[in-house]
Amino acid sequence: MAIRIRRDVSTLKPWDDALLWYAKAVTEMKARLVADPTSWRYQAAIHDYVPGRDPNANPSDRLPPIAEQKKFWRQCQHFSWFFLPWHRWYLLYFEQIVAATIVDLGGPADWALPYWNYSGKQPDARKLPPAFIAPQLPNGSPNDLFVANPGRRFGNNGQPVGSEIAVSLDCLKERTFEPTPMDLGVGGPKTGRNHDISGDVGTLENTPHGSMHGAVGGYMGFFNTAGLDPIFWLHHCNIDRLWVEWRSRDTRHVDPVDSAWLDTISFSFHDSTGTERTHTSGEAVDTTKLGYEYDVTPHPAPSFGPVVTKELEMAAERVPEMVGASDAPTPLNTVPTTARVEVSTPTGPGLEKAALAGDDAVPQRVFLRIENVTGEGHPRSYSVYVNDIFAGIIPLFGVTEATRATEKHGGGGLNYRLDVTGVVAQLESTGNLIPETLRVTFVPDEEHVAADAKAFDVQKAQGESATPFQVGRVSVFVA
Ligand code: C2O
Repeated sequence: MAIRIRRDVSTLKPWDDALLWYAKAVTEMKARLVADPTSWRYQAAIHDYVPGRDPNANPSDRLPPIAEQKKFWRQCQHFSWFFLPWHRWYLLYFEQIVAATIVDLGGPADWALPYWNYSGKQPDARKLPPAFIAPQLPNGSPNDLFVANPGRRFGNNGQPVGSEIAVSLDCLKERTFEPTPMDLGVGGPKTGRNHDISGDVGTLENTPHGSMHGAVGGYMGFFNTAGLDPIFWLHHCNIDRLWVEWRSRDTRHVDPVDSAWLDTISFSFHDSTGTERTHTSGEAVDTTKLGYEYDVTPHPAPSFGPVVTKELEMAAERVPEMVGASDAPTPLNTVPTTARVEVSTPTGPGLEKAALAGDDAVPQRVFLRIENVTGEGHPRSYSVYVNDIFAGIIPLFGVTEATRATEKHGGGGLNYRLDVTGVVAQLESTGNLIPETLRVTFVPDEEHVAADAKAFDVQKAQGESATPFQVGRVSVFVA
């Protein structure tokens, strides 16, 4: 099997063959019927499909039989440790289908999906690549990499998409895949199959993944339409590359070893011949067996020493203690809003660890938990400040879906955890000690607010109800 090389789209010419052929393949796939697993619409429906909210719905549509839909559609895994492996399989079969389409159209045999490296140092890193905003191909025919949705915010005007914060790679510093009491984890929490269920957003899924979904806007803002924007696939290719990058940064950056992740749950797709393929997460971990590589292979270099290894072992045992929580929901508006959290001195596990000394001393960490975030509408990114010090962002990608799930299953919405250990240390150095009242302020991303009026009209046109966004509870934990 020849290895496909996935390249950084910024290193390609604006109309490199890889992009020109991708555009032609999209046109071809769009012409296929929705019930054809290799069609553009079917591929997007694998991620999510909401009857009544399909922008391409047509009275002559014949959707696949219900049993087939149940198995293959509405499968995207979010707020879960399956987020990375599921999207890896999804991308792999999509890439195979596009590549086969290109061969059928008379193109090269080695097509590979490029990736969009928005966190890169190149000056236009955060702009949509030119081929995605040109209404026409070089030969003057319509370009299907372009999406004329006015909600596609700034990208279509050639402006950078999202802020520097939206493309931060802090998630790669995470020491663990799964969250622990002391680590946020890069890959998401342990769950069962997790489509359309509320939950905890993992750090890579949060930023740059969710932040860039919202920042691109338009179809990219919702699970059921995201796959209809051709940039979605380059975005996820980058997320997949970041997983590879995280793994290679340290030999101790490892994927889960729990069989509940490795092989208990499997996911089904179709390959380019329409044949059913079923895979587990465990089968996804070695990309060399999957037939692709990234153009830049990161060099493994240990980033933490034995002390940290010891710390990690101890961290997993820590029992977090809640030291304060807001007592009312906080609305998320187009202007900043603030939640107040009375914080008390830790009395239980928080104290015990203060008594540890020498090799057993594991520095305490402080976390902010932002729970039960609900609402419907285009996801809007909020910066979170604790007593006016920046603490992180909550991009809200998936909030509409998690809110609808909440209606079905009760409870829920989205949950975020931010590590505010550094913020608290800064507050302490200014004499602003815990215990006290913390002010947790949610500041909407300005670009989003500016674009919202427009995007909102689009949503209304698509029949979106506008349940306002809110945070159910903000709490502070020490671990
Ligand atoms: Cu399943 Cu980026 O979405």
